[in-house]
Amino acid sequence: MRAVVLVGGFGTRLRPLTFTTPKPMLPVGHRPIIENLVSMLAVAGIDEVVLALGFKPEPFRAAFPDGECAGVRLHYAVEPEPLDTGGAIRFAADHAGIDETFVVVNGDVLTDLDVAKLVDFHRARGAEATIHLTPVDDPSAYGVVELDGQGRVSRFVEKPAPGTAPTNLINAGTYVFEPSVLGRIPTGRKVSIERETFPQLVADGSLYAMSTSDYWIDTGRPDTYRKANFDVLDGIRKSLRCDAVHGGAVVADRVDLRHSMVSAGASVGPNVTLTESIVLPGAVIESGAVVSGSIVMGRIGADAVVTDCVIGADGSVDSGSERRNELVPDPATVTGR
Ligand code: GDD
Ligand code: MG
Repeated sequence: MRAVVLVGGFGTRLRPLTFTTPKPMLPVGHRPIIENLVSMLAVAGIDEVVLALGFKPEPFRAAFPDGECAGVRLHYAVEPEPLDTGGAIRFAADHAGIDETFVVVNGDVLTDLDVAKLVDFHRARGAEATIHLTPVDDPSAYGVVELDGQGRVSRFVEKPAPGTAPTNLINAGTYVFEPSVLGRIPTGRKVSIERETFPQLVADGSLYAMSTSDYWIDTGRPDTYRKANFDVLDGIRKSLRCDAVHGGAVVADRVDLRHSMVSAGASVGPNVTLTESIVLPGAVIESGAVVSGSIVMGRIGADAVVTDCVIGADGSVDSGSERRNELVPDPATVTGR
């Protein structure tokens, strides 16, 4: 069976990190998110993944030059312009010639869902489309789903205003589709699968959903991206383990590491204190810096104090300075990306 993985979004909420690295290529547990995700699909017997690419396709080709990821064959479908989630699924599936039941996954979701179970559920109900659901505390940032007693979706509301969501069950971003779903998606324009296609399937009574309590996280915001990493470090995500410091990182003596992670290709100088932070490939943190609650891809000068910041690859914090709650560089001032 084949799967389409949506990896072409701009990753706006993770700027400035995503100015240089597309969201699914950011590491979680020292492995790109996309590799985590393709491994989950491999377990379910998926033998080809169609990458629905748009924004920044090159880093994917560079990371998987022989067209294989986690033992699964990759097919690259690059949109000429962003087509939104539904348009991207249609474009990628047409590009790869998909004409059988297939799986779709949002490329920023990490879950321990057994995808084969979702496929079985879909087949047992003779559904046209089936989506995976997970319960969350605040559903307003997601697609919210109401069910009837048989697992059929009676309502799908994308990102309802806070306090108005009918349930706390949300679209967890993994779907099983019959090829007939593709015929519902118009070509040549942006189509949101959530706002346009799902409500249409609901109206026809052919959208089903399976809720599970498996580990699940959307890595698309700085706080959830950090949490996804800590969940691996802390063993909360049972299917994956990792060390705090990757063997390929350069970490000096007398570094005080408090619930933080350092990636391969990062460099941390002596007497640095890292608290609740993620240090990504290419980052340089000079001696004596105090970094907490932050994600760092760029440079932090000696003795700087950085709190609750996201430092992109082009970001630089001067020695001895103090930054709090900032994006560096500030995406609002960066043009031409
Ligand atoms: N190829 C392509 N083209 N991919 C796209 C495009 C596009 O135009 N737009 C978005 N994507 C990809 C993103 O890269 C991401 O992997 C996926 O589609 C979902 O987009 P997000 O921007 O992450 O959406 P979201 O998190 O706000 O909401 C979605 O996910 C939630 C679960 O995490 C929706 O599906 C919600 O209904 C759902 O609850
Ligand atoms: Mg998302």
